[in-house]
Amino acid sequence: MKNSAFSQKYGPWALVTGASSGIGEAFAHELASDGLNVILVARRRQKLENLASQLTQKYGVEAAIIEADLSTENGVEKVIDDSKTFDVGLLINNAGFISMGKFIEIPFEKATSNTYLNIVAPARLAHGLGRRFAERGRGGILFTSSMAALQGTGYMSTYAAEKGYQLLLGESLNLELKDKGVDVTVLLPGQTESEIASKMVVDGFVEGALPISNMKAETVARIALDALGQKAVVVPGFLNRLTAFIGKHLLSRAGNSKLWTFIIGKAMSVPQTKVSEEAVLA
Ligand SMILES: NC(=O)c1ccc[n+]([C@@H]2O[C@H](COP(=O)([O-])OP(=O)(O)OC[C@H]3O[C@@H](n4cnc5c(N)ncnc54)[C@H](OP(=O)(O)O)[C@@H]3O)[C@@H](O)[C@H]2O)c1
Repeated sequence: MKNSAFSQKYGPWALVTGASSGIGEAFAHELASDGLNVILVARRRQKLENLASQLTQKYGVEAAIIEADLSTENGVEKVIDDSKTFDVGLLINNAGFISMGKFIEIPFEKATSNTYLNIVAPARLAHGLGRRFAERGRGGILFTSSMAALQGTGYMSTYAAEKGYQLLLGESLNLELKDKGVDVTVLLPGQTESEIASKMVVDGFVEGALPISNMKAETVARIALDALGQKAVVVPGFLNRLTAFIGKHLLSRAGNSKLWTFIIGKAMSVPQTKVSEEAVLA
């Protein structure tokens, strides 16, 4: 169903990174159903082409693709340059990946393999497109961070830090860009149906091992879009919000970190050494 207020504020084009699967693909559907034209960004060209034709057929919007590797400077600058020909009013900074394992036990290159993708790329895109939005006096930027941003977590230390960067950058930009007519929201999803868990299996993470059920990607995307202009930070789903509430108000920060390190450690096929149930309760 078209949402003309939304497309007037954030249209006519939205740019979605990581649109070839999961939450990004769901964002593309939700935006197209709101009547926005969509620029789809990712590496897998065929997936983007299939999605683009689906969106035009199903929703009658225009869809363009930019094939780019956002873990490289060239890829990110290509997105900045190629998007100039479109009147973009909304940036969905969603592409991301996770590196699992004990920080000093995995190669440094692996521990930091997503740093460009998760930190520099979303910042550069928010900077480049944010300036355009400020000039036209309206627009929106959405960061797909993670609930992992809410506390330090062993076995995914660099991911927690990278998502923490997105959270703080987005929260800060929410205040800085408000008077320019640009809305900024940070989405903190919990476990969500997507391809990410199956890609993580190779890292020793056991899919489905977390004691939390998966949310549907389209539900998560819809909640995030509805929060734009309303909230600086949004946690989708009652159970995720309850978890975040407990972590913030009922546990100490250190206790919350220990709890999450314990949970993630359990889900990993790595020996549990330092983190025990006792430590969590301490
Ligand atoms: N699913 C969850 O439980 C969950 C929870 C919290 C946060 N998140 C966050 O949600 C976001 C979306 O992930 P997802 O769960 O939907 O996983 P996904 O299905 O694996 O989607 C990841 C997307 O990012 C793109 N991507 C990855 N590396 C890229 C690169 N180097 N250059 C360009 N695009 C790249 C992928 O496309 P290509 O492979 O085609 O490039 C894909 O479209 C991520 O930022 C993730 O950290 C997910």
